[in-house]
Amino acid sequence: MVQFLDVLVRDPHGDDMFREVPILYDESIRLGAKKTIDLGVKYGLSTRAFLLACAVTDGHVWSVDVTDSPYARQKIREWGLADRWTFTIMDDLEFIKTWKEGPVDIVMIDTSHYYEHTLRELEAYSPIVRSGGLIFLHDTIPAAACMKVSEAIIDFLKAHPGKYDYYHYLTVHGLGRLTKKG
Ligand SMILES: C[S@@+](CC[C@H](N)C(=O)[O-])C[C@H]1O[C@@H](n2cnc3c(N)ncnc32)[C@H](O)[C@@H]1O
Repeated sequence: MVQFLDVLVRDPHGDDMFREVPILYDESIRLGAKKTIDLGVKYGLSTRAFLLACAVTDGHVWSVDVTDSPYARQKIREWGLADRWTFTIMDDLEFIKTWKEGPVDIVMIDTSHYYEHTLRELEAYSPIVRSGGLIFLHDTIPAAACMKVSEAIIDFLKAHPGKYDYYHYLTVHGLGRLTKKG
């Protein structure tokens, strides 16, 4: 499986995610992640990073997007990872209302990047993250003025003082990582 990690960082659609791929893979393995929620699929870069880690940790990834991703579906099938993957086409704030799988190790947020929506995602998904689990947010360094991921993270942390550790990976587009304290 690890040979696919090499292919993934060279994916033709991975120009904004190739530096994040090894981080997501390594962190999943470090955590021994069994349950990961991946919000925003598009070309399935983050999805496949988590799925490759799941092949090591014996985990499962639940992905959510408002649009289908034939490209990600095809790659995941070809790489033999489809059994570890559940993909739901739905607004993520609706999906969380259907969640019945209990606490999760990781939530990845990479969807609208709007302030209000990101804050609502953090409030909706943080309760199901286990103690010691992680929330990743992509595009903390805005590529457009409407992208307000960092502002949402700051206000979320202010609203939950002492509950999370925050680390910022200085990749080209920026990756935030919140660790839920025990
Ligand atoms: C930047 S792309 C995700 C990239 C992906 N993480 C990857 O590594 O290839 C953002 C995706 O979020 C989806 N999206 C936007 N708003 C959403 C919402 N409210 N719920 C679910 N998905 C959403 C879009 O359809 C789009 O496919």
